[in-house]
Amino acid sequence: MNLAALLNQRTAYYDYDANESVDRQTIEQLVTEAMKAPSAYHLQNWYFIAVTTPEHKNKLCQVAYEQRQILSAAVTFIVCGDMDGYKRLPAALQPSIDMGTLPQILATSFIEGINNSHPNNPQLRRDEAIRSASLASMVLMLTAESKGFATGPMSGFDITALQEAFDLPEYLLPVMLVTVGTTTVPRFPSKQRLPVVDKLTIL
Ligand SMILES: Cc1cc2nc3c(=O)[nH]c(=O)nc-3n(C[C@H](O)[C@H](O)[C@H](O)COP(=O)(O)O)c2cc1C
Repeated sequence: MNLAALLNQRTAYYDYDANESVDRQTIEQLVTEAMKAPSAYHLQNWYFIAVTTPEHKNKLCQVAYEQRQILSAAVTFIVCGDMDGYKRLPAALQPSIDMGTLPQILATSFIEGINNSHPNNPQLRRDEAIRSASLASMVLMLTAESKGFATGPMSGFDITALQEAFDLPEYLLPVMLVTVGTTTVPRFPSKQRLPVVDKLTIL
């Protein structure tokens, strides 16, 4: 399916087939594709928790204001942003340096740039975590849709309660939940979007 068709098909889905599951390989494929999203400085400052068991689905549902699509989705990804990603930038860049896909001189300037801007700016670190996790979430959704799954993005959850329930370290900010599963009823038709002229300035 081409991108235009995927974008037209994707609508937030709620009525998953609770009898369907996804295997580990599929979950890994989805996250591998999601990680093709770009991130500032190539930080790759995201982390994914794939919630698949009834026990963990129940726990997640409770901290997501009882949104029951979590219970029937085959998997819900807790897509997190790493607010301390700058500390791990050298390790994140090394494989690209080794493979010759990132020149050392550029990597050095990335590391200098981030060390000048991130350590003393928690707001920027949080913003960057949200940007990266959001881009990855969108790629995750489109990849899942391209494989025939339905998906749903969710920010309706209690951040602190989720962090506690899943024992997340402080630096991991849960940014988005993405439900993925098999459809029972057809997807809703796509909702209308506002006129492009209301949302675009061309300078
Ligand atoms: C950041 C974000 C958070 C959302 N949170 C929720 C949510 O907590 N619960 C829910 O039912 N839908 C949630 N949605 C789904 C939106 O309501 C839905 O994407 C929007 O109405 C547009 O419809 P469409 O996705 O079908 O095009 C969320 C969507 C986004 C992008």
